[in-house]
Amino acid sequence: MLVSGSGSNLGALIERVHGRAATIAGVCSSNGEAFALERARAAGIESAVFALGDHAGDTSRRDLGMADWLAAREVELVVCAGFMGILTGGFLTRFPSRVLNLHPSLLPAFPGSHAIDDALAAGVSETGVTVHLVDEVLDGGPIVAQTRIPVDYDETPEGLRARIHAAEHQLLPAVVEDVARGALDLDDIARKART
Ligand code: GRF
Repeated sequence: MLVSGSGSNLGALIERVHGRAATIAGVCSSNGEAFALERARAAGIESAVFALGDHAGDTSRRDLGMADWLAAREVELVVCAGFMGILTGGFLTRFPSRVLNLHPSLLPAFPGSHAIDDALAAGVSETGVTVHLVDEVLDGGPIVAQTRIPVDYDETPEGLRARIHAAEHQLLPAVVEDVARGALDLDDIARKART
């Protein structure tokens, strides 16, 4: 898994999937202070920090180091949840159609790092959560699964945020379970998106 922050979605995967349908082989964080690292440690999952500052700000080199670390652990799926940054092409070619990202909106609506606030500011009556395949376009790859969430007329940012996170904690483990069990064919989703 790739993380940068709290790692509540890592927590959901540890609870629902790890050691069952799949094993979380390792956690990479772009941030040495991420609470996600504590969650990994507590669950006995190996982790490593790949901060840009340790790679002279060279994202491609950092990403290649991360790809090597993950490949050494024979990962079959890379899951980004709260990972800050756009993965470079060199990383993505190492895991073709095997990198998922979780995003707190109904993509293609509201890409970027302020998706929840942007949806509220736009006054939409519905938003949601998306799991998509990662390509080099920010939050732009083929959609794998979505959960729709109605926005109440008197919605507060905190209330919506909590409902979105709760939906994420259901959707991401369900997708990873389906991929692990062969019920979801990521190659097929990538192929259809290309045609
Ligand atoms: C999630 O809302 C995810 O959609 C976004 O970053 C957040 C990560 O939360 N990309 P957490 O670190 O898993 O708690």
